[in-house]
Amino acid sequence: MKLGIGTALGWVAIAAGSLLTIAMLSRFERPPIDSVQAGFRGTGMVENVNPRLLAALQAANVIPASLPALPAAGPKAGQVYKNVQVLGGLSVGEFTRLMASITTWVAPTQGCAYCHNPANMADDSRYTKVVARRMIQMVQHVNADWTAHVKETGVTCYTCHRGQPVPSRIWFNDPGPPRAGGYTESSFGMTHASAAAGDSALPYDPFTPFLQNADAIRVQGTTALPAGNGMGIRDAEWTYSLMMYFSDSLGVNCTYCHNTRSFGDWSQSTPQRVTAWHGIRMVRDLNENYLMKLHDVFPPNRLGPTGDAPKLACATCHQGVYKPLFGVSMLQGFPELAHPLQPAAAK
Ligand code: HEC
Ligand code: HEC
Ligand code: HEC
Ligand code: HEC
Repeated sequence: MKLGIGTALGWVAIAAGSLLTIAMLSRFERPPIDSVQAGFRGTGMVENVNPRLLAALQAANVIPASLPALPAAGPKAGQVYKNVQVLGGLSVGEFTRLMASITTWVAPTQGCAYCHNPANMADDSRYTKVVARRMIQMVQHVNADWTAHVKETGVTCYTCHRGQPVPSRIWFNDPGPPRAGGYTESSFGMTHASAAAGDSALPYDPFTPFLQNADAIRVQGTTALPAGNGMGIRDAEWTYSLMMYFSDSLGVNCTYCHNTRSFGDWSQSTPQRVTAWHGIRMVRDLNENYLMKLHDVFPPNRLGPTGDAPKLACATCHQGVYKPLFGVSMLQGFPELAHPLQPAAAK
């Protein structure tokens, strides 16, 4: 049989169409799906949970065993060691327990030498030690000053690191793929599938404007007629990209925070939206005052495509769960991470 080019193209189109269908279907989860009502009846405020995926998520979010607490009595680390700038107020026992815990949380396979020069523990020549010292201060700051978000649950190094030196869900400024000139030169930050925006074709870097800079996340008009609202469709697309990222980071629907009949209306939103509002401000603070300030400490291979420092966002702590580690607090066993410590008395 002789095939015309048209017929051949037809078959190619059918084959491509079938592959696309299969690819799309594999994005859907098979029933049954459990659902939990989370708001007024008839408003669609419901959370869907796939029990088969939940088991794996729970298994991945079990906290590691903590070492037993050690007495606060005895000489202080600040008096015994040479170069302790943040944890000097701890007893030597407490200090050693924290060092061992930090090692299992951040560098379990690499060990103490990931941060330390084994020949001289006081030496600050490894950048990882300098970063770690600042991270200890960051954790104390989050737990002391951002309780509007982290409540009493708080965070430890493990919340983000999960046994690896570089947390899995960090981000960099994304310049996008290289583009040809002319009409295609500007994509307005979108038009190709973006993992950051929940695999949608919405703008692929929702982080830089909203979680590094403080662009307003306000697009809806508050009046019936479009008066006084300077936000356009493009602003809405950036906002939606960020919101897709929120949902993805927490493993929830939009209705976890919003009543979708009016996304912007706080009086109809859930309490979780208020927690999220504080979370946005917390993330900006941590990026600006901790991660970005460490820019010159990080080696070039840790910087992003435009030379920017690594940054964190919702998923860095949450990792797909509405509360990191399903709300189990590791902080209770580590009171030294709950707030900045008093410096040790001089020798
Ligand atoms: C993730 C990085 C990291 C790891 C891993 C780590 N440490 Fe540390 N260590 C630090 C930081 C940061 C300081 C300084 C703390 C400060 O300034 O308050 C420090 C300080 C010390 C000091 C004080 C040294 C001096 O004389 O000033 C000792 C001792 C120490 N660590 C022991 C250990 C031991 C033992 C291990 C392995 C079980 C370990 N550390 C693992 C980051 C780390
Ligand atoms: C809120 C999330 C978060 C918490 C909590 C956190 N870190 Fe980090 N940490 C980061 C991010 C983001 C980076 C940058 C990743 C990189 O180095 O490329 C980082 C980097 C590091 C690095 C450098 C690793 C490397 O190889 O470049 C060390 C060491 C480290 N953290 C130690 C700690 C310690 C110790 C604690 C607890 C006191 C802690 N971190 C708590 C987010 C966090
Ligand atoms: C974890 C909570 C949370 C989730 C989930 C969430 N949002 Fe939001 N959303 C917020 C917060 C908080 C704001 C306001 C941010 C601010 O004011 O800084 C907001 C703002 C918005 C706005 C702008 C409202 C205005 O005043 O103009 C829209 C639109 C929106 N979200 C849509 C969505 C959509 C669509 C989804 C699902 C894809 C979603 N949100 C998921 C918390 C959430
Ligand atoms: C430093 C780690 C960290 C980061 C970063 C973080 N969160 Fe959280 N978040 C927590 C902790 C811890 C809790 C649990 C507080 C509690 O026990 O109620 C929480 C709770 C929440 C809740 C309340 C859940 C509920 O059911 O009550 C929402 C909503 C939330 N976070 C949204 C966000 C959003 C959105 C972002 C990014 C803008 C974000 N978080 C970034 C640590 C973090």
